Amino acid sequence: MRLMEDKVVLITGAAQGIGFAAAKAFAEAGALAALADWDEDLVNKAAERLKTEGYKALAIVCDVSDDVQVQAMINKTVETFGKLDAAFNNAGIQNVLADAADQTREDFDRVMGVNLRGVWSCMKYELQQMRKQGNGAIVNCSSIGGILGGPQRGTYHGAKHGVIGLTKSAALEYASQGIRINSICPGIIHTPMVDKMMAGGQQDILDAMIETVPARRLGHPKEIADAVLWLCSDMASFVAGHTLVVDGGYSI
Ligand code: NAI
Repeated sequence: MRLMEDKVVLITGAAQGIGFAAAKAFAEAGALAALADWDEDLVNKAAERLKTEGYKALAIVCDVSDDVQVQAMINKTVETFGKLDAAFNNAGIQNVLADAADQTREDFDRVMGVNLRGVWSCMKYELQQMRKQGNGAIVNCSSIGGILGGPQRGTYHGAKHGVIGLTKSAALEYASQGIRINSICPGIIHTPMVDKMMAGGQQDILDAMIETVPARRLGHPKEIADAVLWLCSDMASFVAGHTLVVDGGYSI
């Protein structure tokens, strides 16, 4: 019996990077996977790729910063697959680099809308479904930025710190109802998000960061996907409200 046999999982930001690696890992573990992303073309291709490999996958177009779309995403998952056993609230974006005095309200709202309110909103409606079922597991995507400071990244780090607070509080509320909520803090992982940083002239910053990673390398999306899979599985049945750091030792 595979780890997630016949379980239904919903993953946001699933068209590429960590989200797609997670969708693939869950599918390989026997799950029916709903892949949600705001990039219609990419998410359709991602779900097709899994289907071609023989897995059950569903593509959903959703902007997690829009409450109405989030509710529709969860409804579609449940209508299609009948339930919601696990969710990985992973969609996230970077802020425009700027010192605190120069950050704009527009960028703050944009980043908070996806990285913090998006997670809040996904979790809220996922919990309404899981509460009805009396079971479920949620993993919210924070970051090492959720436990450390980062110059010029205050908005991103602020949102990711917030994700941990939302996670711990909800975990306290729902642990007695058979629902576990945890967060994951990836270190520097080689995904299109990091490629964008390199292309945007931040290669020097990235190189300096890698120098300080005890493992001396970038992480692979699958290394985060496997940790999320474990957190959502029965192997982690007594893990609630935990902040799991997967960063090659960067934050030690
Ligand atoms: P990525 O940029 O490669 O992929 C993110 C996916 O989310 C994309 O497919 C994008 O279209 C989607 N997305 C963005 N905004 C969305 C929205 N409003 N609604 C729906 N989908 C949306 O990013 P990556 O690297 O895979 O990151 C995934 C998560 O991991 C993010 O929350 C990020 O903050 C976090 N993270 C990534 C790290 C890294 O080094 N790559 C390090 C720490 C955390």
